[in-house]
Amino acid sequence: MNPLRICFVSSEVAPFAKTGGLADVSAALPGFLARAGHDVRVFMPLYGSIDQGRDDFKPVHGLTDIQVDMAGRQVAGSVYETVTAPDGAPLYLLDCPEYYHREALYGSDPDEHQRFAMFCRATIESCQRLQWRPDIVHCNDWHTALIPLYLRTLYAWDQLFNDSRTVLTIHNVAYQGVFKAGIIGDLGMAGHEKMFHREDLAADRINFLRTGILYADAITTVSETYAREIQTPEYGMGMEDTLKSRGGSVVGIVNGVDCSIWSPEHDPNIVRNFSAGDLDGKRINRDQLLMELGLSPEPGGPVLGIVSRLASQKGFDLMFGILPEILAGNDVRLVVLGSGAKSYESYFATLQLEFPGKVCFYRGFNARLAHRIEAGSDIFLMPSRFEPCGLNQMYSMRYGTVPLVRKTGGLADTVKMWNPDDNSGTGFVFDHYDADNFRWALQSAMNAFSDRDGWRRLMQNGMAQDYSWDTQGRHYLNLYSRLLSGRPVR
Ligand code: ADP
Ligand code: GLC
Repeated sequence: MNPLRICFVSSEVAPFAKTGGLADVSAALPGFLARAGHDVRVFMPLYGSIDQGRDDFKPVHGLTDIQVDMAGRQVAGSVYETVTAPDGAPLYLLDCPEYYHREALYGSDPDEHQRFAMFCRATIESCQRLQWRPDIVHCNDWHTALIPLYLRTLYAWDQLFNDSRTVLTIHNVAYQGVFKAGIIGDLGMAGHEKMFHREDLAADRINFLRTGILYADAITTVSETYAREIQTPEYGMGMEDTLKSRGGSVVGIVNGVDCSIWSPEHDPNIVRNFSAGDLDGKRINRDQLLMELGLSPEPGGPVLGIVSRLASQKGFDLMFGILPEILAGNDVRLVVLGSGAKSYESYFATLQLEFPGKVCFYRGFNARLAHRIEAGSDIFLMPSRFEPCGLNQMYSMRYGTVPLVRKTGGLADTVKMWNPDDNSGTGFVFDHYDADNFRWALQSAMNAFSDRDGWRRLMQNGMAQDYSWDTQGRHYLNLYSRLLSGRPVR
């Protein structure tokens, strides 16, 4: 395959700015593409939370003082360059302090739409200034979803993009970027109102994600099951009809794991490295985790781990009644790392008070602790209501931590139910979203845990799974090549 020019656009890229799995994917997939010989450049905003003084950030010649008309005035941005990782892809950071120096990556300020419209337009204008002709413009989630429309309208005059094809990857259809229709002028789209979805306009709103779904040349999402689910009313969050109308262009590709970051064999964040053939280190990590978090040592039962955004998506409602019951009746430990909805934060804070020595709730975001929980837990809880892909269940398997998941989205595609009769399977899977099913799965996992030989085999089955980007990234290359040669994408 000839080297492609790929403009990869994302609102978060690890480790620079991260709220969830989008950041991991936006570092790892371009890294794979760069190593495969392609000219990939990643664009993201230079948020205030990123250390501005890093000496590896270099201004990009020609990309200073990019003026974009935003809400009737000129807003200026400049681009700095670094790399996503030492062997990664070039990363272009859009500096525009008035938009990106905020308390959090995302917010609800009245100019939220401008922040990401600016990002979309400045990315396009950067390509123009560099006279860099992307074969593929790969957008991710609603923050970048206006790019396909911009290329067909405001920038349609520029032949630079004549042969460019656009891809929109939906990492989570629950986040859509919905604003009052009155902002169309702010976006520079006055006169192009008809390009927005008619029903949205009738309801006095515009929807960034839907606009991307309408105009991207191909739409991907992050697992095959989720690609089917979001075309149904139950999971589509109102996007199902628009997605169905593009059905032939909607493709599911399961995410990969960045094995340079998530591998127990050489992870610098954990106390002892280990592997499927040498699991002693796993026990040492477990002992250390409990000690570090002030929990009672050497439980007879498993250590249960959770690392998550505390959002209703992740299935915490199912745990409400069940966890106290399990904690009261068994010699288990529970370690929770996360922050988010106040109701879940106070639930776990209360649980910690009720079960001293058994439960630790660490409120916040802590990358190092996330690795230590993956390495030190026995069972990872992820009973999501919906899950586009999910990375943590894959990280867990690599670390010999057995995932307990609901059969939805990427969880259904990556975790198979343990069967002790033929020693097959990689975790515990339940189907219907209700508390009794969650209890059943947790009880099954705890019973299995007491069979040491079976458990070891189950851990090793998970550790043998290959979800590396070397495998998954090829599906994207295949998609790009189909798009560019005019073949159907599926
Ligand atoms: P989502 O993107 O829906 O949050 P994923 O499983 O795809 O779910 O990815 C979550 C990513 O964010 C993982 O890399 C996980 O380790 C990380 N993560 C989530 N919450 C925290 C936290 N509180 N501290 C550190 N890392 C976290
Ligand atoms: C989203 C989804 C998660 C997915 C991640 C990366 O945040 O919630 O399931 O793994 O994006 O694609």
